Amino acid sequence: MQPHPIHSTQHFIPSNTMDLPVLFLLLSLSFSFPLSSLSLDTIHEGTSLSIEKSEDILISPDGVFSAGFYSVGDNAYCYAIWFNKPSHGKIQTVIWMANRDHPVNGRSSKLSLLKTGNLILSDAGKFTVWATNTQSLSSVHLYLYNTGNLVLQNMEGLTLWESFDFPTDTLLPQQLLTRNTRLVSSRSQTNYSSGFYKLFFDNNNLLRLLYDSLEDSSLYWPDPWIVRYTDNNSRIAVLDTFGNFSSSDDFTFMAADYGPKLHRRLRIDYDGDVRLYSWDEEGQTWLVSWQAIQSPCKIYGICGANSFCSYIVGSDRKCSCLPGYKMKNLTDWSDGCEPEFHLSCNGNESGFLMLPRVQFIGYDYEKWSNSTFDECKNLCLQRCDCKAFHHTFFREDRYSSCYAKMRLRNGYRSPDFQGGLYLRLPESNLFSYANSVQDFTLVCSSNRTRNKRSQPENGIVKFMLWFACGVGGLEIICIFLIWCLLSRTQQASSVDKQGYLVAVTGFRRFTYAELKKATKDFNEEIGRGAGGIVYKGVLPDNRVAAIKCINESNQGEGEFLAEVSIIGRINHINLIEMWGYCTEGKHRLLVYEYMENGTLAQNLSSHALDWKKRFDIALGTAKGLAYLHEECLEWVLHCDVKPHNILLDSNYQPKVADFGLSKLQNRNLEKASFSRIRGTRGYMAPEWVFNLPITSKVDVYSYGIVVLEMVTGKGPTKGVHAIDSGGETEPKRLVAWVREKRNEAAAMTSWLEEIVDPILESSYEKGKMETLITVALQCVEEEKDARPSMGQVAEMLLRQEDDSHSDDHGINL
Ligand SMILES: *[C@@H]1O[C@H](CO)[C@@H](O)[C@H](O)[C@H]1NC(C)=O
Ligand SMILES: *[C@@H]1O[C@H](CO)[C@@H](O)[C@H](O)[C@H]1NC(C)=O
Ligand SMILES: *[C@@H]1O[C@H](CO)[C@@H](O)[C@H](O)[C@H]1NC(C)=O
Ligand SMILES: *[C@@H]1O[C@H](CO)[C@@H](O)[C@H](O)[C@H]1NC(C)=O
Ligand SMILES: *[C@@H]1O[C@H](CO)[C@@H](O)[C@H](O)[C@H]1NC(C)=O
Ligand SMILES: *[C@@H]1O[C@H](CO)[C@@H](O)[C@H](O)[C@H]1NC(C)=O
Ligand SMILES: *[C@@H]1O[C@H](CO)[C@@H](O)[C@H](O)[C@H]1NC(C)=O
Repeated sequence: MQPHPIHSTQHFIPSNTMDLPVLFLLLSLSFSFPLSSLSLDTIHEGTSLSIEKSEDILISPDGVFSAGFYSVGDNAYCYAIWFNKPSHGKIQTVIWMANRDHPVNGRSSKLSLLKTGNLILSDAGKFTVWATNTQSLSSVHLYLYNTGNLVLQNMEGLTLWESFDFPTDTLLPQQLLTRNTRLVSSRSQTNYSSGFYKLFFDNNNLLRLLYDSLEDSSLYWPDPWIVRYTDNNSRIAVLDTFGNFSSSDDFTFMAADYGPKLHRRLRIDYDGDVRLYSWDEEGQTWLVSWQAIQSPCKIYGICGANSFCSYIVGSDRKCSCLPGYKMKNLTDWSDGCEPEFHLSCNGNESGFLMLPRVQFIGYDYEKWSNSTFDECKNLCLQRCDCKAFHHTFFREDRYSSCYAKMRLRNGYRSPDFQGGLYLRLPESNLFSYANSVQDFTLVCSSNRTRNKRSQPENGIVKFMLWFACGVGGLEIICIFLIWCLLSRTQQASSVDKQGYLVAVTGFRRFTYAELKKATKDFNEEIGRGAGGIVYKGVLPDNRVAAIKCINESNQGEGEFLAEVSIIGRINHINLIEMWGYCTEGKHRLLVYEYMENGTLAQNLSSHALDWKKRFDIALGTAKGLAYLHEECLEWVLHCDVKPHNILLDSNYQPKVADFGLSKLQNRNLEKASFSRIRGTRGYMAPEWVFNLPITSKVDVYSYGIVVLEMVTGKGPTKGVHAIDSGGETEPKRLVAWVREKRNEAAAMTSWLEEIVDPILESSYEKGKMETLITVALQCVEEEKDARPSMGQVAEMLLRQEDDSHSDDHGINL
């Protein structure tokens, strides 16, 4: 893909219209390079640039741009303008092409400026593949300006034609995007022909991005559901040299490196994103200083039909065929996937496979409002060409939606989606399809994805992150932080009575009868909370389990399954393990491992919990919560951390229970709002009360209270007699009391003794205890930003642990 080497410079310029500096430049060039085939006077007679003469190249006066024949493949050339400086020393960046869809032969092709004033590109000396269709009575000349604009002018200096009016995929500074022009992406990174993505002004005078292929044509930027409106019908957009882009529909943006820069260019890339690049002189490469779309999966058409896009760590995104489908063209995802099965119209052969959190956009027959899952399924079955459906139940509004899909395009997987896609497949093969799926599981990886942020792989990533931090494009960071996707082989799944199979269930689905038997008709109650009652039971395989019956039964089945399948995959030594679930009719049950020593609440007042156990519980709980918040599924907040939800195994190791049941946290934490307060009085952070945004710091607050309770042996709202309860609100009592005692520390050396649970007597390590209390007090700061993260808490406690192992000074016997 190299252009011809540049040996010499030629300008088609009649001397009488030249301005002085150009004349000087030409003169100096003429002296340094002997003029070969061309001379200035040939302009008047009509002249050509030949593909075979490598010196037939126009160069802008400042040497930045060249125009000439550019190789686009095997003996195929396009007349192009490119940046002379190669990026990374390799590829020259093409900014314009005359004949991108009709490359010419490497022999006898030429660009000719006819006497009539027409500029034509002829292929192999015969066919005209491209022309400006200009005419002029006076003589004309072609000139490449420093801006990168190739201009055809007549003697009077009138512009007959300019490349700026016919952009391909790139907009240069000062080049106008107008009602008559549009940017069209390349087909691929190496194929310069017209691709599927377009940037243009639509009929409503709005600047839009369109995916436009033979099969599909849809707008994808700005987000189709964002309603925009403009009065201004001038339809003009322009980028200035400083990196300020503004469009007549009031859309504006500024480059992350706004300011004077040598070179910038805006391009609609072959992947459908629009990026602003700036030239990095030091690294001799282009850096991204703005991009339109932060979540690449939101770009339509990226994965073709019957395929969906998902984010993976360490790379932008990937495409996967739906189960039962295979890639159409192994080298090109945009062709999508095709079914491997044949389904007859007869509904009784169809089954459904549920793919959690996968959504396909568009191509609905119609939206059926408020239909039940079964109604929705039957609506799909009645249509011969219904490929799948989405059914979602919105608990708050007691309302459900049903979308049946006649085509599966623009699919992507996101944690934002409630529910999932019910994919129609031959019932007889449902099992094998479910088992063949390698890519569906959302598994927590023990690798800290966080590190990825501090080690950007290249300048582009660095720039994008820099930009994302600055200009609210938080999504990019979220993608880097949140997504931990590992493929994992599927264990056998069971077919649902309703006729679909859950692709992700690595754990078991139980029948209600099985659980009824396991719990001996639900007779041994071991716990009771807002969410439901927990019973002890023995599973058919003799494992002892805790079985929770969820009170609230109006949750849609699809939603329940989607949540359960994610909770079921969260796996950490300090989090309770879920073994399975049951959903039948109104029954919703969860099956957990059973913990011999019950809850922390039951143990607090017993002598069983010595100092070491208490510290270990504090540390383990912090690790479990940190895992929930940070290591993988950041949007899982617990929201109800309290001693009743911390279970103790036979070694008194803590396991946090009851997480993920409230709601899988919306990724956009700032906007998240819980309509229903979950939590327990005494452990609830002030944000709940003041209706502030709920973030992972609510769990940190509750954790702090739990630790203080463990250390003092006093409940958060009662049992503290030492202070006057005058103006304090109840939940603050314990915290205030501990703070007060600690602040007296300067005067009284025995503050620890005063607050520490008398049961512990003095068998604790003083230094470690002080750290624990200090950390707990930080956790219960009123201001959420002053609280550490759960990960930081775990780290502080771990450091303490290490210290006390290395020097054993603090034991106070
Ligand atoms: C580029 O893509 C077009 C459209 O798909 C195709 O017709 C053409 O053969 C491709 N060119 C090369 C060099 O692959
Ligand atoms: C960017 O351009 C717009 C429109 O020309 C202008 O209103 C705005 O002030 C410019 N911003 C800066 C920082 O120059
Ligand atoms: C429309 O937009 C153009 C370009 O941004 C601007 O020059 C013009 O003043 C605008 N017209 C109105 C009526 O706002
Ligand atoms: C697959 O896609 C490539 C790139 O677009 C194209 O060159 C090739 O002809 C396609 N193959 C088939 C079998 O369609
Ligand atoms: C499906 O329906 C067809 C006709 O409605 C019937 O002939 C066939 O036996 C049915 N198959 C099954 C497995 O029920
Ligand atoms: C939807 O249906 C449910 C149950 O059939 C009903 O309770 C609810 O009011 C309906 N909601 C709307 C908005 O019609
Ligand atoms: C972390 O990721 C690296 C590379 O992806 C892998 O080699 C390593 O085994 C992973 N570590 C764990 C604990 O999974």
